[in-house]
Amino acid sequence: MTIEIRRLGEMAGAEILGLDFNHPLDDETVDTINRAFLDHHVVCIRDQDISIERYLEVAAVFGELQPQKIPQFAHPETDLISVLSPNLNRESDDPKSKLIVRGTFWHTDHSYHRVPVKATLLHAVTVPSKGGDTRFLNMHAAYEALPDDMKQRIEGLRSVHCLTGRRNFAGRKRRTDDEVDGPTAAHPLVRIHDDSGRRAIYMNPNRMNGIEGWSDADSDELLDALNAHCFDEAFEYRHQWKPHDLLIWDNRCLMHAASDDYHEPRLMHRALLRGSVPVGTGGANNSQGKAA
Ligand code: SIN
Repeated sequence: MTIEIRRLGEMAGAEILGLDFNHPLDDETVDTINRAFLDHHVVCIRDQDISIERYLEVAAVFGELQPQKIPQFAHPETDLISVLSPNLNRESDDPKSKLIVRGTFWHTDHSYHRVPVKATLLHAVTVPSKGGDTRFLNMHAAYEALPDDMKQRIEGLRSVHCLTGRRNFAGRKRRTDDEVDGPTAAHPLVRIHDDSGRRAIYMNPNRMNGIEGWSDADSDELLDALNAHCFDEAFEYRHQWKPHDLLIWDNRCLMHAASDDYHEPRLMHRALLRGSVPVGTGGANNSQGKAA
């Protein structure tokens, strides 16, 4: 089978053409996809009209599948898939009135666990004719573009990630320290990529309570400055979906955000691959968590 790889963006993204996952995957093809994943961080395998069973078989070739625990998004047949589909209220005069899309703010998946997920897979079952792109920020590039004094300032720091944290930018009320809830984990702010050894800023802006050992005010000042630096189109790749795209992205060095700019059905099946404890510039021990 001849496969073709084409770069999609300067910051991330490559598409792979000429594959059909309905056929068995050979080792060479798996190596090619893994290489593209490391080189481009977001890999889109086009034209994969596959069943849920085959999707799970293929995903398991790339890592250990992790159950997904939010009941309202669960796939009826398996907890290894979650279903992303916004509520579209067709009866309403205001087409946006009931559009509820998950993940519209910059994030990386499951950072509040001691072992965050390595990669996310999203299979496009139905895509809108216009809009609904997924946006990605290359956090290696964001780190490398920091001024030297900021690189020194964040070296060795750990940030505390929390499922429902104190800092929240998505329009919901910010929580107080007493209200913080759910799994919590401290991770290096500068993360060394397990496979490439490259540094990245490891952030999840809505789910970070602050810098370990720092006051809220000092933490906010630093994290706000890092957000302002990272939320920049210069680091962005924007994926425009086609039906049956299968996307795999690397949560260790990217943030991503869904777009809510569409008014037609959009149905995605999400799978997650287990990761590793994030390693920082001080070594493996500088990441701790209270809950996995
Ligand atoms: C996600 O944030 O995991 C979903 C992204 C999307 O639906 O575009």
